[in-house]
Amino acid sequence: MNTSTNQSHGTRVCFLTGASKRLGACTAKKFHAEGFNVIIHYNHSKNSADTLVAQLNALRTGSAFCLQADLCEHEQTQSLARLAFDCYRRVDVLVNNASAFYPTPLAECDHKIWDDLFDSNLRAAFFLAQQFAPELEQRAGSIVNMTDTYADSPLKGFPIYSMAKAGVKAMTKSLAKELAPRVRVNGVSPGAILWPPSMEDESDPAVLEDRQKMLEKIPLRTLGEPQNIADTVFFLANDACYVTGQTVRVDGGRSLS
Ligand SMILES: NC(=O)c1ccc[n+]([C@@H]2O[C@H](COP(=O)([O-])OP(=O)(O)OC[C@H]3O[C@@H](n4cnc5c(N)ncnc54)[C@H](OP(=O)(O)O)[C@@H]3O)[C@@H](O)[C@H]2O)c1
Repeated sequence: MNTSTNQSHGTRVCFLTGASKRLGACTAKKFHAEGFNVIIHYNHSKNSADTLVAQLNALRTGSAFCLQADLCEHEQTQSLARLAFDCYRRVDVLVNNASAFYPTPLAECDHKIWDDLFDSNLRAAFFLAQQFAPELEQRAGSIVNMTDTYADSPLKGFPIYSMAKAGVKAMTKSLAKELAPRVRVNGVSPGAILWPPSMEDESDPAVLEDRQKMLEKIPLRTLGEPQNIADTVFFLANDACYVTGQTVRVDGGRSLS
């Protein structure tokens, strides 16, 4: 079934931030496969974004665009929302996926690092939601915010990222109230889905040991797949019509331990 056409007619549109690769790209492909047109935002990864858009347009002409912006720059974020709307003159779903992620040992934290992590993870998501709110209300659309299981149980050595993601979870509940009844707002909280860059080198025995330790903490004993995240984002945006203000953990049960 092509789920992209709703009662307001025309092809529905999903705008995703930070979606040129990894989880965001997988989610963009899911929406596209379900019949949505997609707008893929990127910052530095122009080649990945261009390649993804070319792949999607080869499947359906004119079904994908990409737009560049640094979400730490407020004016770029504001104009990004206007440019995204101009692509198809509609937006039905906003996926706030972009995120900076790196360790911030307490003694080394400064305002610049704080701003980078809070702006990319939280501030931009809030102001994009504010800007898209009238359009989403008209479309009875929805927002999905990407947070992290570390929002509930902070990752040692990553205090600013963990706090920013806790803010994303709180924002999800606030915006669900602010934008009801027309717009639903939910979150997805991934556990370990893709190994972080520091755990990518399979030839390093220390990395393999760290991976094993992490897997032992996951009741389902495996990493998740990007598709598990994409499917959950799509479910919340498209199917969960009586769900708002919720954040769904997709973590193989890790948060139970
Ligand atoms: N991967 C996991 O296992 C995992 C686990 C828990 C939570 N999550 C959350 O799930 C989401 C997707 O995860 P991921 O690992 O696929 O994300 P990611 O690769 O770490 O980041 C996604 C994109 O965010 C963009 N970004 C970062 N800073 C930006 C800025 N200042 N302005 C604009 N864009 C910026 C980057 O775009 P460019 O490359 O174009 O610069 C990057 O490609 C994130 O919100 C993440 O926190 C992921």
